[in-house]
Amino acid sequence: MTSRPEQDQETNGNTVSENSARPAAGGNTRKVFVRTYGCQMNVYDSERMTDVLGPEGFEATNTLEDADLVILNTCHIREKAAEKVYSELGRIRKVKEERAKSGKDMMVGVAGCVAQAEGEEISRRAPIVDLVVGPQSYHQLPGLLDKARSGEKVVETEFDIDAKFGHLSERAQTQVLKRAPSAFLTVQEGCDKFCTFCVVPYTRGAEVSRSVEQILSEAERMAAAGVREVTLLGQNVNAYHGEATDGSSWGLGRLLRRLSEIDGLDRLRYTTSHPRDMDDDLIDAHRDLKSLMPYLHLPVQSGSDKILKAMNRRHTRDDYFRLIDRIRDASPEIALSGDFIVGFPDETDRDFEDTMDLIRRVGYGSAFSFKYSQRPGTPGATMENQVPEEVKSARLAELQALVSAQQKTFNETRLGMVCDVLLEKKGRNEGQLVGKSPWLQPVQLDAPEALIGSIQAVEIVKIGSNSLFGQIIDRQNSHENPRPVTAAMA
Ligand code: SAH
Ligand code: SF4
Ligand code: F3S
Repeated sequence: MTSRPEQDQETNGNTVSENSARPAAGGNTRKVFVRTYGCQMNVYDSERMTDVLGPEGFEATNTLEDADLVILNTCHIREKAAEKVYSELGRIRKVKEERAKSGKDMMVGVAGCVAQAEGEEISRRAPIVDLVVGPQSYHQLPGLLDKARSGEKVVETEFDIDAKFGHLSERAQTQVLKRAPSAFLTVQEGCDKFCTFCVVPYTRGAEVSRSVEQILSEAERMAAAGVREVTLLGQNVNAYHGEATDGSSWGLGRLLRRLSEIDGLDRLRYTTSHPRDMDDDLIDAHRDLKSLMPYLHLPVQSGSDKILKAMNRRHTRDDYFRLIDRIRDASPEIALSGDFIVGFPDETDRDFEDTMDLIRRVGYGSAFSFKYSQRPGTPGATMENQVPEEVKSARLAELQALVSAQQKTFNETRLGMVCDVLLEKKGRNEGQLVGKSPWLQPVQLDAPEALIGSIQAVEIVKIGSNSLFGQIIDRQNSHENPRPVTAAMA
């Protein structure tokens, strides 16, 4: 998966993913349909919501029409992302009316960042919504649902993140896990940086790190359930500073070192990082840890010092160049990725040219780019010299052409290489599987389904526009065959 779910149509991705939880078999249980928008943290949260609802008698479904409960886990990052929620609620209303004809009810919940940002405004605008629940309150879902069932319109947007983390992991422990080979694990949530374009500090609240112990036990459970690759998540994941049992504070580098000792976790990744929080220990971890994959998503947003300052990013373009040099010294093969915003207020042609220049100098393996979107309540929204839409569109097209060319060049350098590929799922065609290269590129190859969950040595034989094509070269000498998936967790 090279595409991050949070990108919108301005890049090449899809923001929507459906319930990834496997529907349980049979029974008269109620069904929950969860649709996830936005970033990986929402993907992780959606899974936890399904976990929490399991003991309440809910099983996951991928069919909206069958759902007794629908949850939209929403994203507020750009206007388009937020508006999608309301068009989806319109569609759900029709399904709900259809179900009502055969005497079946359907409850509707809105979770995620739109829920946090808009609160009760949502049920005013869309009366079919029974429940609005912000990202810090998912552990309370069962109680909130009971309230909503009694006819009350429920809105819960309190910030109490410690409680969320504690309860969700406790719940998850009671579940029987059988997990896909690659999984997300939230280690940090929230943001104190207040970039002037961004809603995240308002929707996710202040920065909070989970304790080392909680993370290790979740990672161990994942490994025992067949997970081979863990991506640590945080809005500012490299600002991680979690408490260990001895009271000391661990940074992300130290956490990664400890996670690399867990048997079965062959691959570690983390996202999203802020340039200001890349400390020496984390950079050294890229040199020292074989399981830390050579890929780094390090958004810079702009290459203009004037715009960086106005965005409150609190570093210069030269700081970024120096940082990239240090990272490449530690890990010469690393694939760099970034996020860019075009058309931030007062961005001139000259400023935009600075961004293009930065991209040329750094050389990215991939990147995500967006037109600046004015978000209510953020300082950028009321700044002067907003950039006209057509200028934003032209700049975005130019920037994306450059990034696509870089991505193509980067992909082409993989031709003929042999690399480890983690086989994750069935491919589009019969007999095909899709996996991931160390540099996060999707790799398609012919292989039996039994190899899902294994890491194979693969020769890259062809380069496609969005993925690489490979052939398994020597199963004996590559990493071991799929480990058996153990069932229940302590
Ligand atoms: N914490 C991360 C970013 C999280 S939001 C960081 O600091 O880099 C993901 C991306 O969405 C951002 O990197 C930015 O490129 C984009 N984004 C955020 N707010 C935006 C806005 N108002 N308009 C356009 N893009 C935005
Ligand atoms: Fe948003 Fe900036 Fe925080 Fe990233 S660091 S989440 S862009 S405020
Ligand atoms: Fe969107 Fe919230 Fe993630 S605004 S990008 S879902 S943190």
